[in-house]
Amino acid sequence: MKHDNIERNVGILIILTMLAISAGGLVEIVPLFFIKETVEKVDGVHPYSPLELRGRDIYIREGCYLCHSQMIRPFRDEALRYGHYSLAAESKYDHPFQWGSKRTGPDLARVGGKYSNDWHTQHLTAPRSLVPQSVMPNYPWLVKTDLDYSDIQGRMKALRTTGVPYSISQAEYDKNVKEFGADVAKNLHIPDAEKNLLAQAQAGNYDTNPEKLTETDALVAYLQLLGTMVDFRKYDDDYFAKFR
Ligand code: HEC
Repeated sequence: MKHDNIERNVGILIILTMLAISAGGLVEIVPLFFIKETVEKVDGVHPYSPLELRGRDIYIREGCYLCHSQMIRPFRDEALRYGHYSLAAESKYDHPFQWGSKRTGPDLARVGGKYSNDWHTQHLTAPRSLVPQSVMPNYPWLVKTDLDYSDIQGRMKALRTTGVPYSISQAEYDKNVKEFGADVAKNLHIPDAEKNLLAQAQAGNYDTNPEKLTETDALVAYLQLLGTMVDFRKYDDDYFAKFR
């Protein structure tokens, strides 16, 4: 009889339904706040350098995620095609993450190191010059547009608020050296962001034109990093050894 009353009284039904849902939600969500490491720590994973970060921003601006996922699922066919399945830790500094669900083109989670910088520059400018049946759009402006990095410090500071450990003080810098090693920590220091961005672009020559710093430099630096942070040879069991 009581249940009958609840079902006939919309107000009470809504309130009780909400209570039931919140109890379920709390049971699922609250423990995550108390587990020290919800995402397991994995050696090698580190935040993006200023240049790679700009590249990632361009990736998002151009909507590459509309055709490319960045998450290799733990299935045999995926492992055969793309490599080791993606780990949660590998996108821990991605805000927002680029997992995606649409694969008009291949997954890009491990595209780093697969092609040369030359290949990427040419492919981004005119995909069909390399892959005649490709339906990927041309992005000819990327290699012609100078990279704007004037706001790179602001971009890094914004990510700090989400927990990415870009350093501002010497103490934070030292902490990063301990955690990521000196080479990586150098690139995470906000006061030197422009200097480091220029140095990396100069050394990497990603768009194969050393004279100019273009959007292609940043985008290719980002693409070449994807999936390369974790050295899976240290972890792989025999199963994955077959695919290498
Ligand atoms: C309309 C869908 C579409 C969009 C948008 C798109 N791509 Fe692609 N992409 C493809 C297709 C299809 C392929 C496979 C054929 C080829 O290699 O061109 C591909 C291939 C690639 C490859 C080679 C992957 C491999 O493993 O061989 C890279 C790298 C790539 N795209 C990067 C990008 C980037 C960066 C952007 C954004 C600037 C982008 N794509 C936007 C459809 C797209």
